[in-house]
Amino acid sequence: MCGIVGYVGSKQAYPLLINGLKRLEYRGYDSAGVAVIDKGKLLVKKRKGKVSDLEAHVDGNPMKGTIGIGHTRWATHGEPNDVNAHPHTSQNGELALIHNGIIENYATLKEELISRGYTFKSETDTEVLVHLIDDIQRTEGTDLAESVRLALGHVVGAYAIVVLDSKAPDLLVAARKSSPLVIGIGEDGDHYLASDATPIVEHTRNVVYMEDGEIAIIERGHGLRIRNIRNQEKSPSVQALGIQLEALEKGGYEHFMLKEINEQPRSIRDSMRGRLNLAQGQVVLGGIKDYEQRMVNAKRILIVACGTSWHAGMVGEYLFEEFARIPVEVEYASEFRYRNPVINEGDIVIAISQSGETADTLAAIELAKGRGATIIGICNVVGSSIARVTHAGSYTHAGPEIGVASTKAFTAQVTLLTLMALMIGHRKGTVDGARFQELLVELDAIPSKVEKVLKSEAQVKYIADIYKDARNALYLGRGYSFPVALEGALKLKEISYIHAEGYPAAEMKHGPIALIDEEMPVIVIATKGASYEKVVSNIQEVKARKGKVIAIVTEGDTTVQGIADHSIEIPASPDALVPLLAVVPLQLLSYHIAVMRGCNVDQPRNLAKSVTVE
Ligand code: AGP
Repeated sequence: MCGIVGYVGSKQAYPLLINGLKRLEYRGYDSAGVAVIDKGKLLVKKRKGKVSDLEAHVDGNPMKGTIGIGHTRWATHGEPNDVNAHPHTSQNGELALIHNGIIENYATLKEELISRGYTFKSETDTEVLVHLIDDIQRTEGTDLAESVRLALGHVVGAYAIVVLDSKAPDLLVAARKSSPLVIGIGEDGDHYLASDATPIVEHTRNVVYMEDGEIAIIERGHGLRIRNIRNQEKSPSVQALGIQLEALEKGGYEHFMLKEINEQPRSIRDSMRGRLNLAQGQVVLGGIKDYEQRMVNAKRILIVACGTSWHAGMVGEYLFEEFARIPVEVEYASEFRYRNPVINEGDIVIAISQSGETADTLAAIELAKGRGATIIGICNVVGSSIARVTHAGSYTHAGPEIGVASTKAFTAQVTLLTLMALMIGHRKGTVDGARFQELLVELDAIPSKVEKVLKSEAQVKYIADIYKDARNALYLGRGYSFPVALEGALKLKEISYIHAEGYPAAEMKHGPIALIDEEMPVIVIATKGASYEKVVSNIQEVKARKGKVIAIVTEGDTTVQGIADHSIEIPASPDALVPLLAVVPLQLLSYHIAVMRGCNVDQPRNLAKSVTVE
């Protein structure tokens, strides 16, 4: 949460910073601000609201200067307003600082600084940092980089910061601990800083991913130096970015979410490319090759994740238990880390995260790692923190996901979990050769089946129009479709603000059935498979109470279509692969309902794409 950008070079900083902030706006959109140095003077503009509100505030008079920083905020401490917006400045107006993270001991630091004569303008935790650095500069007489280093020695918490000092108009100092920061190195000696690579890719493909505890000193004409918090010099490791610029644009779609839903045939295919080899009847996951045997021997697998990634993890539980016969526990990362979990020797922890930056998931990994578990990551963002702290892992090749509501990342995660479970099951002998082959063929066919499901959009839109004013919705599924029901409900609530709950279909009679009346849409995943008849009975129970049923059914099904109020067909598929298909109409349904309700689909209220606070 919160996006930060920085630039020093030969070009005008303001337009670069604004463009960068627009790319990072998915990380938070409570306020936006920029600071630049022009002729030795620090200028700051900040505004509550979106980057476009900041632009309107600047009102066609771009700030001048070839060095600057910018911030887009997801509020933690202090409400979203102009004063709490970043950058925060020192009392003498010489320093400006932007921050992503949380300073946990800010109250103690604030008290000390107040007793030393500092006054605070904002309610943020961040403001202590700028006063602390200023205080150290004055009392110790140290330069900006050293003052930042000394200040961070007093700080407990998570941060990615960038600091500007009008006394050093060619210098940017940045530091990170538990919040991401990437440095782009332009061919012309220009340098870019950002929370992720998306604002950088249009300028350069050469990047340095900062590590925890590092301080970057970027000086015009002198390039980049990196030190650690113990003041040891480190040589920057420059990597090449693989992201394509088009992937960051809407490509003709009205919203990123719709584009990303429609990209799923491609993103699922990309996640299997080079891994599923039909001709040789093999699954090869290069990233976990050295850990395959440990997975085969595992007595237990723990899956840690949050939100949609947790739902993918639940599908993973069913997959690993069915195919690899390994007991699996799926944990909310936030719960896992605080409840002293039992981790046995030989346990495998699979951490799933689209962003690779989710603070709770990162903390859960650290805990499990500290207790000797082997950690396998499934991440989408290359070079992200989670990808770097895990022992091994496989990237989902979904491409950048910009819409806050996760769609293509979910199906890519489930695709990888399917590949992993089948591969381990085959190696263990819990899936025999014929079944393995058959499932590989089915998995390979999924992208074209998703293409087919996407063709139901007009019908989904018609249904969305009927239910757009609903106040509640219930999503039901059994077996592999239960996590899909949870995911469908999450999608609806996060972007359309309709209260929705996902339930195992059979659990309905233990409570939620009391909610059903003629107003209540009940979305049921009722595809042909192991629990089909049971789900048909659940639908009858809903209908007997006058509930409105929207059913996701297997192509050609007439039984459910005869009972349900509406039905959407998906191609026949083995139960284990149904989540990859059934989730698609649910994504489309949420999308169209949200659009019809006038909601901001890509940037729903109160949310941020990457949750880097606990
Ligand atoms: C999904 O639509 C969400 N916005 C959210 O639940 C998300 O899945 C969660 O925050 C986890 O993020 P991650 O996959 O980046 O770790």
